[in-house]
Amino acid sequence: MSDILCIYYSRTGSTRGAMEKIARTLGAELVELKDGVNRSGFKGWLRCGMDAMRRTCPPVAKPETKRPLADYRLVIIGSPVWAGRCSSVARSFLKQYGKELQNAAYVLLRGSEDKNEEVYDQMDLYVPCGHRAAVSLRSGSVGYAFWQEEFLRQTRDFLSGQEK
Ligand SMILES: Cc1cc2nc3c(=O)[nH]c(=O)nc-3n(C[C@H](O)[C@H](O)[C@H](O)COP(=O)(O)O)c2cc1C
Repeated sequence: MSDILCIYYSRTGSTRGAMEKIARTLGAELVELKDGVNRSGFKGWLRCGMDAMRRTCPPVAKPETKRPLADYRLVIIGSPVWAGRCSSVARSFLKQYGKELQNAAYVLLRGSEDKNEEVYDQMDLYVPCGHRAAVSLRSGSVGYAFWQEEFLRQTRDFLSGQEK
């Protein structure tokens, strides 16, 4: 049973794709976050934007993980960027469970050139341990594979440093 958890929210599949690859490479458990809100189509898109701007925290279903969250050595949280913030679903998860995490890392999926790296600090507000590694990826961009590999390298470095 892995002691690394990859947990993510994805509206249109980009974050899911990135997290599937990261989980596969690290041999981590993979869990999707759901808030039960219909976010499809134009109305759904608008709702996502409003939720992000208002910092609304919709209740997320308790993630069904194999271990209690506090028992994972590293929890990697994946989220799309919405209106310069993390998705409200990821925010809800962090608000509810961020205090339980031993170590965290962030994977952001974005649509623009701007890496939105200030979102890492926003997420840290809910996570007392802060983040050990982070990456911002844009689907289809030239640097996507490079930055994803770089994130995996940072993550492996952190994990092997812990084993010493
Ligand atoms: C409501 C909304 C707001 C968004 N705001 C931003 C933004 O501020 N900056 C950005 O780079 N991308 C923004 N995006 C684009 C998404 O972050 C991007 O398409 C991402 O890859 C979607 O991930 P997903 O397929 O896992 O849902 C926004 C998308 C939505 C739906």
